Amino acid sequence: MQSEIRKELLDAFTNAGDVYLSGQHLADLIGCSRTAVWKHIEELRKEGFELEAVRNKGYRILKTPEKITADEIRLGLTTELIGRNIHYEESVESTQKLAHHFASEDVPEGTVIIAEEQRSGKGRMSRKWHSPKYTGIWMSLILRPNIPLHNAPQLTLLTAVAIVQAMEEITGLHPVIKWPNDILLNGKKVTGILTELQAEADRIHSIIIGMGINVNQRKEEFPIELQEIASSLSIEKGETISRAALIRSIFKHFEKLYSLYLEKGFFPIKLLWEGYAVSIGKVLKARTLTNVIEGTALGITDEGVLKIEDQSGVIHHVYSADIEL
Ligand code: BTN
Repeated sequence: MQSEIRKELLDAFTNAGDVYLSGQHLADLIGCSRTAVWKHIEELRKEGFELEAVRNKGYRILKTPEKITADEIRLGLTTELIGRNIHYEESVESTQKLAHHFASEDVPEGTVIIAEEQRSGKGRMSRKWHSPKYTGIWMSLILRPNIPLHNAPQLTLLTAVAIVQAMEEITGLHPVIKWPNDILLNGKKVTGILTELQAEADRIHSIIIGMGINVNQRKEEFPIELQEIASSLSIEKGETISRAALIRSIFKHFEKLYSLYLEKGFFPIKLLWEGYAVSIGKVLKARTLTNVIEGTALGITDEGVLKIEDQSGVIHHVYSADIEL
């Protein structure tokens, strides 16, 4: 985790925008020495930040580094809970695995584990998640809500809404959600969400939400078997997308939706989710672990469970499945 001085320094630059901040002003604001300010500014430069220093005026940030660092995410971050504590790694087996470890060590709610690369990324239904270096967002968020165990899947749906809203804000694209948690653009998957729990009896200790977002991969960077079914935001938009800006936006939208959820329950989230959902009202095939259900998707229950009406009018409740439209 980063030092408090560094966090406050980046908050100060965030609030200042293009305005120069003097070393003395920063030292007074943070409550440290000018030498400490200078030391942290040098560290930011080593990480790839370009800082302009002008005599009698002070410093301002001109450019942020290409690879995402915790500091770059922090620059411009407006949340109070989500992402205030970031654990960043260059390469991990799986951020999900690391998050489980941190969650059991009582790190604060809202902590996020982000990696540039996952050597063994996990997908749903024990699949692998392709997570190459510097191109996507591979992160896991730790939450500790006081909700019953059976409501945990609602947070997967909430996450999908937050990601879609952030994508709309940052890219201008309009992704859709395929139940329960795939985000699609032009029919191709650009994001997957994996929600896991640490719980005893009916008490949730923590919920770990893993998000895998394809941001800047080129088509040929996907394994051949994924090229027709997966895509990235930059392929669909035709330009490189700032991963740090997208992460900050996800945190912002998530925080808003999460406090709405804790205050008002799932209903408002459900309405938003239905507005983005592509599968509702359509005839589809749901492959569960044990059988295949074919019928019309009627909607989701208050628990986020998919309701499908088959040809004989029987309504099935589907908790987990792969959907074919
Ligand atoms: C899916 O199968 O659709 C879910 C994919 C979830 C992938 C993310 S990437 C970050 C986090 N760490 C993992 O190992 N998996 C999740």
